[in-house]
Amino acid sequence: MKPVILDVDTGLDDACALLLAARHPELDLKAVTCVGGNVGIDDVVRNTLTVLDAAGRPDVPVARGAAVPLIQPVRSARHVHGEDGLGDLDWPRSTRPTDPRHAVELLHDVLRDAAATGELITLIPLAPLTNIALLLRTYPEAARGLREIVFMGGAAGIGNATAAAEFNIWTDPEAAAIVLAAAKDLGIAVTMYGLDVFYDVVVTLDQARALSGSPSAELACKLIEKRSERYQSDGGSIGDGGAVCAVIDPSGLTTQQYPVRIELSGSWSRGRTIVDTRGASDVANDLQGPAATIRVATAVDGKRYAELWLAT
Ligand code: BDR
Ligand code: CA
Repeated sequence: MKPVILDVDTGLDDACALLLAARHPELDLKAVTCVGGNVGIDDVVRNTLTVLDAAGRPDVPVARGAAVPLIQPVRSARHVHGEDGLGDLDWPRSTRPTDPRHAVELLHDVLRDAAATGELITLIPLAPLTNIALLLRTYPEAARGLREIVFMGGAAGIGNATAAAEFNIWTDPEAAAIVLAAAKDLGIAVTMYGLDVFYDVVVTLDQARALSGSPSAELACKLIEKRSERYQSDGGSIGDGGAVCAVIDPSGLTTQQYPVRIELSGSWSRGRTIVDTRGASDVANDLQGPAATIRVATAVDGKRYAELWLAT
């Protein structure tokens, strides 16, 4: 089994990711950490516990993390995910308590144990990178417990929060810059599952409505119905769920190694991921010096990942 931790701002598509990570037999979901993003941290925590309850996984520790980005004010995506962040569904909300530790402390503890046993963790951030930046600044040695980071965020092409920037990176660009700098300095392998593939794993309404027989299947159906309403289409993308598919079945994802920087100061481009697709000699002669080189997802086998999600 592959040990994983999800960092989430649940969110309809974070919920799709949580259901998959909680139920897939090849994943060992060690913990889930929460961060403000799509909605405020209280809603994120409640939604996360609710989804894990539906998945039959009340054993997974859930910790509350950063409520706001490092520097700029918090923004939300309620127009995408509903007032409560989970589509305002008619669904019983969890009242289960969270783990008493802050998200950064829970991450630190699990990664320290992983480094000791050699069972390295795949960290899957699906939200603004605030918690991960705080972790790597506070406890850089936590990198020793990491196998890799596979994050949803950024885009080589167009953005969604703005024309230039993707929502998770745009919400906390400084955090994203810190995580990429840490990846370079500490030698952490990173994959960017960005908007270039994010919308391509689609579950149709017919497929979703054929799911039944368990609370997780029923919730999965409702999530797709909400996503399809939002995008006014005959189905919905599982969004963040695709990044979890990429960890389970990496061969369904096409990636290329590129240097990536985060734009921190543009008037219209703040939060953009600058993916350097130039040739090697231009990259080597870049006057700003080396950037973090990471794997960038450029294409996905959407049908295969949708089937993986449905089957799970
Ligand atoms: C990302 O932003 C959030 O709204 C989604 O949950 C996803 O993580 C897509 O830009
Ligand atoms: Ca998310």
